[in-house]
Amino acid sequence: MLSEKMQQALNGQLKAEFYSAYLYLSMHAYFKSINLDGFANWMYYQAQEELGHGMKFYDFINQRGARVQLQQIEAPKTRWDSPLAVFEATLQHEQKVTGLINELVELALGEHDHATNIFLQWFVSEQVEEEENVGGVLEQLKLMGETKGGLFMIDRELAKRNPGAAPTETD
Ligand code: FEO
Repeated sequence: MLSEKMQQALNGQLKAEFYSAYLYLSMHAYFKSINLDGFANWMYYQAQEELGHGMKFYDFINQRGARVQLQQIEAPKTRWDSPLAVFEATLQHEQKVTGLINELVELALGEHDHATNIFLQWFVSEQVEEEENVGGVLEQLKLMGETKGGLFMIDRELAKRNPGAAPTETD
């Protein structure tokens, strides 16, 4: 059984993951609006991943016999100044999420809630990957994103993101 505090905290993270999906969909729409379809593709899959993260929390809360309480999701920003600004915001967002996951781990450890701690360890590793992936694109943008040619090259690269079972935009 989850403590009341842990139940609330996990419900909060469920919302944060769905907000992440919302944010990345908004970034997807922004990239579509400026005809950078490869960047848009990357964000589309990123949003799918976040929905998956949210569902992991949803299922875990239920599995532990606790109550899912869905909360209001705030509207994300809809415009950015440049692709570079989008990826700076993305890295910042992922760093914030890493902080949230770490706080949850601290709470689980403090409550000696080993099952929740083990559940959260997947997210600890996932955040390392998330920050690395976003940081990689950001570095490319800093190196080559100033010119149209550089941006086009990165766009073509990001068009290849296609992780396994995630649906495509046309599905
Ligand atoms: Fe669910 Fe990108 O962290």
